[in-house]
Formats: sequence, structure tokens, C-alpha cells
Amino acid sequence: MSTTFTLDTSTSRANPTPTPMKRLTVPLIQGRKFEGRTDEPLVMLTAYTARMAQLLDPHCDMLLVGDSLGQVIYGLPSTLAVTLDMMCAHGAAVVRGSFHSVVIVDMPFGSYEASPAQAFHSASRILSETGCSGVKLEGGEAMAPTIRFLTERGIPVMAHIGLTPQAVNALGGYGARGQSQEEHAKILADAKAVTDAGAFSMVLEGVLENIAGAVTRAVDIPVIGIGASADCDGQVLVTDDMLGMFDRVPRFVKRYHEVANEIVDAASQYAADVRSRSFPTPDQTYQPK
Ligand code: KIV
Repeated sequence: MSTTFTLDTSTSRANPTPTPMKRLTVPLIQGRKFEGRTDEPLVMLTAYTARMAQLLDPHCDMLLVGDSLGQVIYGLPSTLAVTLDMMCAHGAAVVRGSFHSVVIVDMPFGSYEASPAQAFHSASRILSETGCSGVKLEGGEAMAPTIRFLTERGIPVMAHIGLTPQAVNALGGYGARGQSQEEHAKILADAKAVTDAGAFSMVLEGVLENIAGAVTRAVDIPVIGIGASADCDGQVLVTDDMLGMFDRVPRFVKRYHEVANEIVDAASQYAADVRSRSFPTPDQTYQPK
């Protein structure tokens, strides 16, 4: 799609302010998988800020305000301390910065597991405060009743199964899932349970490649892989990982750039200019008219 937007100045009650274009919708995303096939794979990246959303939006079908922001933005050691306040603030920024992609916001640890009613309370806050199109939550069979409760009440849910980072303490780390027959069967059962419960799509993270293929063939909703398989219906990566913001990244990340090196180079040139008084020059100072 083109990166040039044309302002649509027509307004309606559903679109009260002029927008550059019509945003994709959850049914359109779900409909991209038809009769078990997705001809053009779905593209999803994480975004946490308005400016990053603006840059990624023309190239994506979905932007995920992931709870990975706890590590990427806040320097937390895991996603467990991420709060609903953080997700709402960053979710609203990403919606403000995008016009085309469906924006999905992660439900943080502790905001949905206690009961379907707790999940509804948190999800409705996320939807009303951010303007996003749906929420993502981690868990398979155990979360199916909650997914059903939310979807029956008009809240689109993207499930997240396989390696679920909020369960890092129970899983004992971030290693790939599905090494045993039991784990393989459990991942398939989770995929079917969240599909039957009404999830419109699911993230499948950190599983053996053959399991990712089997899950993608077994369900009729789009399966978005991360550390999974090119056979999935789409892919997602943490943007800062693929941009090269960190020294080490998981094996499944392809580094598309080395942005950290460029930031370090720019900062070191700036520091040298300041220390040698070669910045600012007359070009960057105000003179009497
Ligand atoms: O929080 C996140 O960014 C995610 C992706 C890794 C799928 O859940």
C-alpha cells in the first residue's frame, strides 16, 4: 500500500473527524483466512509510541501494543510488572499515531486472570481509553471461558499461546515449547479451545516449526507466528528487536537494521561537537533581524 495519505474530509457520526484513510477492522483481519488459507500473510509489529506507530502503520495490517513495552521502554526484567495504566497510555498514543492498522493492546499480567468479570472490566477500560480495536491475552484452555465472556460482549480478543511470557516463572524460562508429545498435544488443544471460544486470531510464540504448521492447519482463524513458522498466517516481531536496538535477541529474530549503532554514532558526534564548541553554529542560533 502507498505511504501517501489523502485526507478524507467527509465526516459522519461514526467518523466525526477527518481522517487520512479508513482503518482496517477485526472482521477484515479474520476474513483474510478463508477456507483454511491466507493468501497474503498478515503483517504485525509492536509499537508503543505515536511516532513509531506513524512510521510502521503504512506497512502493517496490525500494530500490537505489547506488554513487551515493560522491557523495551521501562527497563523491567520481565512483563510481570506492567500495569493497566501503562498499557492505556501507550495504547492511546499508538491509536493517535495510526490510521490504517488494526491496533491491538495487550492485557497486562494480573488484569484478567482472576475472573471473566475482572477481564471485562480491564478490557473495557483499555478499549474506551485507547480507541484500540481489540485486546490480546495469554493462555489457552484455561482462558477459553474468559475469551468467550469478552467476545460475547463485543470485545475482540486475540489469544496468545505456546510460549507465554507472563508465565515465565511457571515455564522456567523463555525456551521453545512443544519438545514433548504432551506439550505438542497441549498446544494444539489450546489453539482449538481459544478458536472455539471466539478469538478472532491468535499469536503462536516459540514453538517447534512442525507444531506451528499443524496449529495453522487445525484452526480457521489467523495464526500469527513469532518464533514459529513461515507457514503461519502472519508474523509478528518486537520492533526494537528487528531494528537492532539490543545486542542480543532471541534466535527467531531477523535483524533488519542496526539502529543502536546509529544512535551511538549520533550521540558521540554530538558530544564531540558540544565539547569542541562546534555546535551550535550560526545556522542554529537566533540573530537580531
Ligand atoms: O508483548 C509483546 O510484544 C508480544 C509479542 C511478542 C507477540 O506479546
